[in-house]
Amino acid sequence: MEKSNGLQVILFPLPLQGCINPMIQLAKILHSRGFSVTVIHTRFNAPRASSHPFFKFLQIPDGLSETETRSRDVNLMLTLLNERCESPFRDCLTKLLQSPESGTEQKKQRISCLIHDSGWIFTEPLAKSLNLPRLVLNATKVSFFRGHFALPQLRRERYLPLQEQEDPVQEFPPLRKKDVYQLLDEESEVLDAYLNRIHDTAKSSSGLIFMSCEELDQDSLTQTRQDFQVPIFAIGPSHTRFPAFSSSLLTPDETCIPWLDKREDRSVIYVSFGSLVTISESELLEIAWGLRNSDQPFLWVVRVGMVNGTKWIEAIPEEVMERLSEKGKIVKWAPQQDVLKHRAIGGYLTHNGWNSTVESVCEGVPMICLPFIWDQFLNARFVCDIWRVGLHLENRIERNEIERTIRILFLEAQGEAIRERMELLKEKVGRSVKQNGSAYRCLENLVDHIYHLSS
Ligand code: UDX
Repeated sequence: MEKSNGLQVILFPLPLQGCINPMIQLAKILHSRGFSVTVIHTRFNAPRASSHPFFKFLQIPDGLSETETRSRDVNLMLTLLNERCESPFRDCLTKLLQSPESGTEQKKQRISCLIHDSGWIFTEPLAKSLNLPRLVLNATKVSFFRGHFALPQLRRERYLPLQEQEDPVQEFPPLRKKDVYQLLDEESEVLDAYLNRIHDTAKSSSGLIFMSCEELDQDSLTQTRQDFQVPIFAIGPSHTRFPAFSSSLLTPDETCIPWLDKREDRSVIYVSFGSLVTISESELLEIAWGLRNSDQPFLWVVRVGMVNGTKWIEAIPEEVMERLSEKGKIVKWAPQQDVLKHRAIGGYLTHNGWNSTVESVCEGVPMICLPFIWDQFLNARFVCDIWRVGLHLENRIERNEIERTIRILFLEAQGEAIRERMELLKEKVGRSVKQNGSAYRCLENLVDHIYHLSS
């Protein structure tokens, strides 16, 4: 860490793995630049304080019952969290601002700003009343952040693209009508009000932070700057500066790495659907058969509770398991960044969460895209239609389709061309975080901005 600069930042992540990782990475970056860091977090999915001895962690009650924490309806959970965390957050923040070590009187640790996830929508009046500058971090791709504010309008217009499903959606590029149909299908109208609040909370902030870069999001960055009229910092794939594993809520199975060590270069397909996606028993079996029939070695993450109605993988019959273990390994959670870095990995069958997509790009691993929810549909379109560094399963969770796509990626000329394009994209994005690259400059500007917020 650089010498302390006497300034403190307060971070407030949403309690989801895909949101905790970028926030903790940002915390590590700011700490390395001399800021002291306080993380206010919910009891649910609390980050492991012991992994970050240099940060101060303050837990607030979130009021979620055991049943609610097990809910698979993420948007319902976010709505409940916003309702129930407002008052405890206010108390915690007010106390923090009044505490002697952060008070302006002693000038020991002036609080520079609050940085919260864009999903917290009650922060604006509170920070304003406390005269505390506020920055917003969003964990998705910039183009999704900008485009998803069009969803209420698309719903109002009764957007039911049952025909011409492959057509582009002008209001939300590069999604196709069938993608938007799935998005609208998934969301309830209650959510439109939530989206509007996210928009207003972001617009009234002192700046927006994204884990993206010009090389991945150029057009949307320009447009978002125009729309929001606040400083925007696309600080790049931050895991390249500090690995994310220390913010993992689950314990990674480290036996993955010695298992990969025994495999040939670029021979293994890695399969993981992140921290939220759930699948049915029959989908589990289709994926299992598709992997086995492809004859390619595989490393597959099946989280406990990921398969609806079962505990883990007991729905796979014993004789199928025997055949699967000839070629593959199934784990409950992997050290994903180390896995994607490994020379044995040749492809990634992914749900296209933004963190996973960027991690794959940074390691030059071509993808097979199987998006399930929310921003994953857009990320998959970028991977397959814009950057052309992956193949899209188009929601066909069928053994033959999975087998066929894996074979194309690993064995055919089309797969080779995808791999070459991915290598170029990896280099471009890699340059952006190096000295004077676009993300590097944005990060410098962000540090400067935070520094000046407090003056
Ligand atoms: C969620 C949403 O699903 C996603 O669409 C949104 O972009 C961010 O929030 P999640 O589903 O968890 O995120 O996916 P993703 O964004 O890919 O983040 C998963 C993180 O967990 C990655 O950093 C990945 O490296 C890590 N991970 C995943 C592991 O460390 N081990 C695993 O076995 C699986």
